[in-house]
Amino acid sequence: RRGCRAGSAVRCSAAAPTSAAAPILADLRLQCAAPLPVLRRVADAMAADMRAGLAADGAGELKMIPSHVYSLPTGNETGLFYALDLGGTNFRVLRVQLGGKDKRVVDTEFEQVSIPKEIMRGTTEELFDFIAMGLSRFVATESDKFHLPQGRKREIGFTFSFPVKQTSIDSGILIKWTKGFAVSGTAGKDVVACLNAAMERQGLDMRVSALVNDTVGTLAGAHYWDDDTMVAVILGTGTNACYIEQTETIPKLQHLVLGTRNTIINTEWGAFSDGLPLTEFDREMDGESINPGEQIFEKTISGMYLGEIVRRVLVKMAQVSDLFGHSFPKKLAEPFVLRTPHLCAMQQDNSDNLGEVESILNDIIGASQASLEARKTVIQVSDSIIRRGGRLAGAGIAGILEKMENESKGQIFGRRTVVAMDGGLYENYPQYREYMKEAVVELLGPEQSKHIAIEHTKDGSGIGAALLAAANSKYAAQF
Ligand code: GLC
Repeated sequence: RRGCRAGSAVRCSAAAPTSAAAPILADLRLQCAAPLPVLRRVADAMAADMRAGLAADGAGELKMIPSHVYSLPTGNETGLFYALDLGGTNFRVLRVQLGGKDKRVVDTEFEQVSIPKEIMRGTTEELFDFIAMGLSRFVATESDKFHLPQGRKREIGFTFSFPVKQTSIDSGILIKWTKGFAVSGTAGKDVVACLNAAMERQGLDMRVSALVNDTVGTLAGAHYWDDDTMVAVILGTGTNACYIEQTETIPKLQHLVLGTRNTIINTEWGAFSDGLPLTEFDREMDGESINPGEQIFEKTISGMYLGEIVRRVLVKMAQVSDLFGHSFPKKLAEPFVLRTPHLCAMQQDNSDNLGEVESILNDIIGASQASLEARKTVIQVSDSIIRRGGRLAGAGIAGILEKMENESKGQIFGRRTVVAMDGGLYENYPQYREYMKEAVVELLGPEQSKHIAIEHTKDGSGIGAALLAAANSKYAAQF
């Protein structure tokens, strides 16, 4: 079967049996194992890189971006606020009526719009016009359940989940796109100015009061309900983490804002790569991506890529064996056709004949002849990649916690500490979640991990951005 090309539907003579795929699986398992010593090295390297990134811009792989958030929402915020969330294949708009200490969140409404592929690869004006139009339509549906005091502009918290060099709480420059976005002309520009210009073109009179990364929004949202929250992690299409840092331990923050003890640091940990257990499949995927050599941690652990890594393993297996019958399933050759939610659905199949796995393989990659043995192999491949992803995510979390604890003893392990989690991968993939949590416990040990609560914050980032808009409202003093 050697010499059969991916994508050709030719029948290959001398097909090797499915068992010819076994050495590939064995190799993969070995390379992806991520045993405790590897996790420990990753956690330590993550902590070291965090320190480097705090010392000077560009000194480490992690950008360690100060968020310019100096005060978190307290619960006293009142009024109507909007949030705009752009970060994956959808963008969301949301409004929330805040009722202060006792009533907290009185009402919320949201809408989600999927972003067409052409917009993700179009021009800056096209993208921001598309967003401003969606926002404008949503604002038009505001009912009288929501109250805006007279003479006051509607304010927005803008969650923009890409690496941004934050210049103030309400401005920031896009460093580069990630997660498959390749919009021309945005890198190097202030994204709030881009949004303002588009809103103006729409005749929409609103003001952006806070520009935040999704991790920062999640931390603010979770902290609003539980002030033991110190870290927030997104595991979705992409991945990232932020945490509360003491301003005095950030050498590169030259102009300390007087009277501020803490701020949130957006680590942009997706860019990490030091010591990761990578395979030929990761390297090939990276080489063919639109950002080769970048976001390696993200490419190893996040939702956008896990299905694609598995697909690449299956391609190799199907080339050397009759894993999917005598001919190579054509659709299997299509990049990104197998998505992480498909892996998840297959891994939930507990039936003896793996019927769900069979129908997904048939529907998605056109493999109509996958034997029971082949279906089991697919599950094992998926599990290796998911397990590595979950364990490495756990190592990243342990690295952050250890760095925080080292800086000020007892801050983390001497009390209850909450890590707020969000993102589709974390939310929907039980096996991934478990592997991640297991790794955190293995790394921290039973004593220390007792103090750590890893908790899901549903939609924290949207509400969190609206809360930060409220906490940074330009009108707060006037009303
Ligand atoms: C990517 C972005 C980062 C974001 C993460 C999760 O890594 O660069 O800013 O927080 O995805 O959405």
